[in-house]
Amino acid sequence: MGGTVAGRHESKLLWASRPALWALTRVTMSRPFGPLRRVPKLGWVARDPTLIRAVLNDHEHFTLLGEGGVGHLWEQVLGPYVTRLFDGPGHADLRRRARDLFTEDNSAALVERAAGPVYADVTERLTDGELVDVAAAARLVVGRLMADLLGLRLPPGSPDSAYLETFAAGERLAALALDTTASTELPPERIAAAKEIVATLTADVPDAFEHAGPDTLLGRCRESGITLEEASGLASLLLVAGTETAAGAMARTVALLHDTGQQGRLRADPALLRDAVREGLRVTTPAPVIGRHVSADVTVAGRRLLRDERILLVTYAADNLAGGFDLTRPYDPRSRQLWFGAGRHLCLGAPVARAEIARMVDAVHAPGRPYRIVSRTYARKVMIPSYGSLVVRLE
Ligand code: HEM
Repeated sequence: MGGTVAGRHESKLLWASRPALWALTRVTMSRPFGPLRRVPKLGWVARDPTLIRAVLNDHEHFTLLGEGGVGHLWEQVLGPYVTRLFDGPGHADLRRRARDLFTEDNSAALVERAAGPVYADVTERLTDGELVDVAAAARLVVGRLMADLLGLRLPPGSPDSAYLETFAAGERLAALALDTTASTELPPERIAAAKEIVATLTADVPDAFEHAGPDTLLGRCRESGITLEEASGLASLLLVAGTETAAGAMARTVALLHDTGQQGRLRADPALLRDAVREGLRVTTPAPVIGRHVSADVTVAGRRLLRDERILLVTYAADNLAGGFDLTRPYDPRSRQLWFGAGRHLCLGAPVARAEIARMVDAVHAPGRPYRIVSRTYARKVMIPSYGSLVVRLE
């Protein structure tokens, strides 16, 4: 897709976010790279979808705790209880109790309750001939959703700026992981800053956990036998995992439909919405690299990986090797849902993310006329490639 309009914009997005990420995706997608290779300073790097899935499902030899895994970052910020909750029997038990926290149905309802008015406003302003910044609207959607999930006591009618601040705090928290591709050991000042953000954003969790109704996340946590400590940890994790990823995917999917000239096909056949969301997630792969620590010696694809080494799973490359954004592409069992990971850490919020993206694509298509991208900027120095702005208007 590199030579197409859509491919060029996606490439610029990756470069603007982190040139090192751009380089990693280019190198791993080149044919000679092969399925698995050792790269100086980075350790093992994998780009084959089947191999990546096998690593993510092999909990005997790989862990996300320890150098190289995201759990290692969180352990330093949230404390040692992360070790118990993020891997091993404690994690399996928590995931069992968390099984029904986000279903397709309750996620669609949650997105509508938290952000329905933002989507309605996008459709209305477009219909009125106004310019709409889809990237800004996406940040507002996520800010409102996070405020709902965290039980933040923002009074009804709070200005957009209050929700955008919630988004920005999630973004600052995710920035904690910037420059950790080569090492997940954090400097003390970064740990202190992250602890402060977590404390502010989860300040209302204990109260909401006690009183919130069963239609809220924290109320459902309480009723599923999840403890307050676990719910607080989960809340912090949701913020990091679901803030920039979802906002970025919303705007990038709207851009891909425009840039590949496939928006008309979707308008003509709204049943393709599910495919648009799936293709948007595949091509953007918002969490482009997943890290793991090797916890025991193991042979993978004929190579010997040693205990305490690290491996980067470049899901972006694995997902994009199949080709560019195509609404008619059949479901591919190899990549399946690799953009949400695999195995026991498979994204807990996948139904929420899908609902957010589907609703944004729908909001832009609802006026029933073609839209044009008037201007765009790429977000710089961010963990997850995103549009800083994506201004659209109806033709
Ligand atoms: C397009 C948006 C999203 C993408 C691409 C995405 C992707 C991922 C990936 C790849 C993982 C696995 C990480 C690993 O194995 O190291 C993950 C985990 C997770 N995600 Fe998402 N995510 C998205 C949105 C969300 C949202 C909206 C939420 C919550 C509302 C969320 C909550 C979580 C949680 C809690 C985990 C950790 C699960 C565990 O370790 O058991 N994510 N996500």
